[in-house]
Amino acid sequence: MPTPRLHPDTIEEIKQRADIVDVVSEHVVLRKRGKDFVGLCPFHDEKSPSFTVSQTKQMYYCFGCQAGGNAIKFLMDLEKRQFTEVVLDLARRYQVNIQTLEPEQRQQLQRQLSLREQLYEVLASTAQFYQHALRQSAQLKAIEYLQSNRQLRKETIEQFGLGYAPAGWETLHRYLVEDKHYPVQLVEKAGLIKPRKQGGGYYDVFRDRLIIPIRDVQGRVIAFGGRTLGDDQPKYLNSPETELFSKGKTLFALDEAKAGISQLDQAVVVEGYFDAIALHAAGITNAVASLGTALSLEQVRLILRYTESKQLVLNFDADKAGNIAAERAIGEIAELAYKGEVQLKILNIPDGKDADEYLYSHTSEDYKQLLANAPLWLDWQIQQITQNRDLRQATDFQQVTQQIVKLLKNIANSDTRNYYISHCAEILSLGDSRLIPLRVENLLTQIAPTKAIYSKPVSAKKAWGGAEKPSHSTLTTDYSLLEHAEALLLRIYLHCLEQRQGIIDELEEQDLQFSLSHHRFLWQQIVEIKAEQIDLISTLQNRYLQLSEDLGVVSHLFHLNEKWKKEIMRTPQVVQAAIACMNLVMIEKRYRHFLELWQTTDPEAEPERYQSYYQAFYAEKIKLQKIDRQRLFSITELL
Ligand code: UTP
Ligand code: MN
Repeated sequence: MPTPRLHPDTIEEIKQRADIVDVVSEHVVLRKRGKDFVGLCPFHDEKSPSFTVSQTKQMYYCFGCQAGGNAIKFLMDLEKRQFTEVVLDLARRYQVNIQTLEPEQRQQLQRQLSLREQLYEVLASTAQFYQHALRQSAQLKAIEYLQSNRQLRKETIEQFGLGYAPAGWETLHRYLVEDKHYPVQLVEKAGLIKPRKQGGGYYDVFRDRLIIPIRDVQGRVIAFGGRTLGDDQPKYLNSPETELFSKGKTLFALDEAKAGISQLDQAVVVEGYFDAIALHAAGITNAVASLGTALSLEQVRLILRYTESKQLVLNFDADKAGNIAAERAIGEIAELAYKGEVQLKILNIPDGKDADEYLYSHTSEDYKQLLANAPLWLDWQIQQITQNRDLRQATDFQQVTQQIVKLLKNIANSDTRNYYISHCAEILSLGDSRLIPLRVENLLTQIAPTKAIYSKPVSAKKAWGGAEKPSHSTLTTDYSLLEHAEALLLRIYLHCLEQRQGIIDELEEQDLQFSLSHHRFLWQQIVEIKAEQIDLISTLQNRYLQLSEDLGVVSHLFHLNEKWKKEIMRTPQVVQAAIACMNLVMIEKRYRHFLELWQTTDPEAEPERYQSYYQAFYAEKIKLQKIDRQRLFSITELL
């Protein structure tokens, strides 16, 4: 069932009522400084406050980590919740009537809202019921299992709220429905009972199992895992997907681990419930468990918000066919790792043990040592590729090189790639340093197609800054300059009302587009919202949140620091310079495009095409020569 869309009036009213200072104050100690409030940023670790809240703008911004937004964004980020969830919560707190775009959906929304609350309640009651059952003397075998087999202390059992589901077919059903009077449909929706196939009635999902409550980041029970105490299959039974629980979006023990993760600036991800529990019991408090599946992007994002340096150590079972198992477990985060957005390390415990088993015979210091020595995922992959290979043998050498090339091609970050090219060249040189340059060259040639895309061209700043007039061979697009020019134009548009029409006219007149996709997207939103909108920035922020677009890449444009305040005073010369820069880049792009086509066309076979490409690139070349380079100097100075 799709989430009903909230009426803009509702969102507006909530924004009016939920004062940002009010909302933030509940989580951050704020002090008044000038017009604004300041405090220690809750999104990164800092000693002196760079987190500012502006009551007049109803926005916050951190000069340390660039986190910024309105009250809704603040709660979404801090509590890791969806836009609608936060808005509905605020609506309840500030007593705002909820309207949806389609009126008939309103009731659905209200129902959905109260359903969630009722589900939390049933699950909390159930958790208590299971915990109580564990303490009953009749269930000695369960508590014995925890204390003897798992060597868990009472405090750990309590910390994780472990329990026991009695053996009967409808013990829980009777308790919840008959004693506590919960509607049977609600208990079913919570994933706790199932209808009998024959003869009507319901039976309990968890029977005679050890119970591990699964809690959300805020510590609310959303599901259960149940382990058999014998040899029943499956070993673990988990709650089905419900309104509150989605396996792929949940990490076990994150509520317990979040403080440890941000303190140690690193998260350890294990596979099993008991691995996470054992680690916490051993004082390793930054551990979470993935619930036995490949890590999803959503799960990784959940963790990464607590570590500033984005360090993730994956401690998955190594016995299951090494490489392939790890690749599968890494799943969707591979790309993040190659881009350098997460520092992924791999920890394989010796003898194929899991963390829980390891800690029976080792101390937590031993485990910390393993953590400290865990190789980065890229290094780990290189180890996997080269282990048990004899590089002196031609076939091994060739196969290893091929696999290494394949690996290197994946690395999107050019600094990282360059580092690993040298590193691998060294490995392939087998200790003969004279061979290294040759191996580097060799690897570079083989990964060339990727290299061409990512290599950064010669800086145009340098090309234009000098006294000599640049020749076209040295003038190549500088993307950082372009990025600055585009950002500047957007910033002026957002903050200088009187410049808006001028910018629109210029862009139209010269038929210019933003080249960077996040800028293009922002511009598209601006155009859709239309220029009259007074509260443009706040409207834009809501659009991003509602479209689940990444606000982070553009949010710095919404805020002005002292430097930018001064800079944009220099408009309209700055607008002119930025436009000229974007224009130059476009022309250059076309110039190179047609030049390349011309060079690769056979004049004998396709004389007409050959001729037209020549004309096209020549026309761009003329434009390039005509561009008023004087204007460009002002922007190179500025940026
Ligand atoms: P494992 O089967 O690798 O075992 O499950 P384990 O965690 O070491 O189990 P113990 O130590 O024998 O108790 C890893 C995780 O995969 C999920 C559970 O989350 C488990 O902790 N799993 C496993 C299931 O969901 N269902 C299963 O049947 C098995
Ligand atoms: Mn285990």
